[in-house]
Amino acid sequence: MKNITIIGTGYVGLVTGAGMSEFGNKVICADIDSRKIGKLNSGLIPIYEPGLEEIIKKNFENSRLFFSSDIESSIKKAEVVVIAVGTPQGENGMADLRFVDSVVNTISRNLNSYKVICTKSTVPIGTGKDIIKIINNNIHDKKMFDYVSNPEFLREGSAVKDFLWPDRVIIGTDSDKAYKIMCDIYRPLYINKNPIAYTSVETAEMIKYASNSFLALKISYINEIANLCELLGADVHDVANAMGKDGRISDKFLHPGPGFGGSCFPKDLEALLAVSKNNELKMETVKAAIIANKNQKKRMTRKLLDLFNNNLNKCTISILGLAFKANTNDIRESASIDMINFIIEHGGIVNAYDPIANSEMYKIFDAIEYYDNVYDSIKDTDGIVIMTEWNEFRSLDFKRIKKYMRGNIILDTRNILNMDELSEFGFTYDNVGRIKK
Ligand code: UGA
Repeated sequence: MKNITIIGTGYVGLVTGAGMSEFGNKVICADIDSRKIGKLNSGLIPIYEPGLEEIIKKNFENSRLFFSSDIESSIKKAEVVVIAVGTPQGENGMADLRFVDSVVNTISRNLNSYKVICTKSTVPIGTGKDIIKIINNNIHDKKMFDYVSNPEFLREGSAVKDFLWPDRVIIGTDSDKAYKIMCDIYRPLYINKNPIAYTSVETAEMIKYASNSFLALKISYINEIANLCELLGADVHDVANAMGKDGRISDKFLHPGPGFGGSCFPKDLEALLAVSKNNELKMETVKAAIIANKNQKKRMTRKLLDLFNNNLNKCTISILGLAFKANTNDIRESASIDMINFIIEHGGIVNAYDPIANSEMYKIFDAIEYYDNVYDSIKDTDGIVIMTEWNEFRSLDFKRIKKYMRGNIILDTRNILNMDELSEFGFTYDNVGRIKK
């Protein structure tokens, strides 16, 4: 059991804090945003993440999880300090390390005893070395700390599950002592099998970028295969299923769609590209994944225009799903933003519905209509576009939809609708890379 302080209560910080307390550690989640801390202390969780509320409540009540806006005293109380602040995209695609730098300075001013300083935030390869230098410049005794890179592999929407049952935990450090301390934090994980990999700091940092970029590449690849399937009369689902049966390929992240979004893939690909450029190395595959993704988002809007015979003027279109994927209210880089912009630019009217992301999208588009359920949002519309693979969209009542809609156009960018049913009810539809019925 370790005393841990996590700095930053975004989705990574909160899930990490809750998860580490679930493993039996004593954790303080600290943040300079005292309003947020106040809310957390009164049981209000600022993000939607399945299972998070339950484990926060349980560990809070069992005095293993605390929330504080007093960063300095929280650091002093900890043996392990975890940096989990945001690293947004900065100039030239490079990650903006403003928040990380500020936390590192605060930590170095409050090193009252030996501590492991651990970075969870996604930082460019080489950042760990810089952090070590900064802290060493600020303290007298170099033995007061060890540094660890411990990247996160948490998918929004299944972050709690990913934390508690990870495929792998990467501990990047040049200190055996710090490695053992980190292993102790993750102890419940290796009672049966050991998912822990012990690497250098730079290797750990690279594993994070290499993993995200590879997954993004896989998506861009299957999206391009889907587009070619459309032209040649092949079905991308059959192709992906068969490809996935090959263990070397695997069936994960082979689902075609409207283009990947979120706060990670788009930003991390740009950051990796920027790092490679700074080192005068070309990474054409990463560049290609970015370009293919931009094209995919455009291709979806082109599909809609085709379905409407090149005229969206005054047409009302219901956008079902605003989040960048299901089970989250995060809309960052969501393909639905491109879709809504496109419809508005072409004179169309947007009705929007997402089970939990309406208020987030309202911050970007405050002049479109938002609805509390699917069926209200589709009344008297000319078309529907499915943008997020929420489960409730998989089982739509087409009979009711047909009755409510003015038109009969459906664009399914997630390939979740049953094509037999769409044909049976006389919809004019399109999707991504499937053989139409
Ligand atoms: C991603 C990684 O999956 C996590 O391992 C990583 O820790 C995280 O980034 C991060 O760096 O913090 P996340 O962005 O939450 O997680 O979501 P994903 O499930 O990876 O999906 C990303 C995008 O790809 C979504 O827009 C999703 O709809 C799309 N996608 C995913 C597809 O279009 N097809 C697929 O087969 C899978």
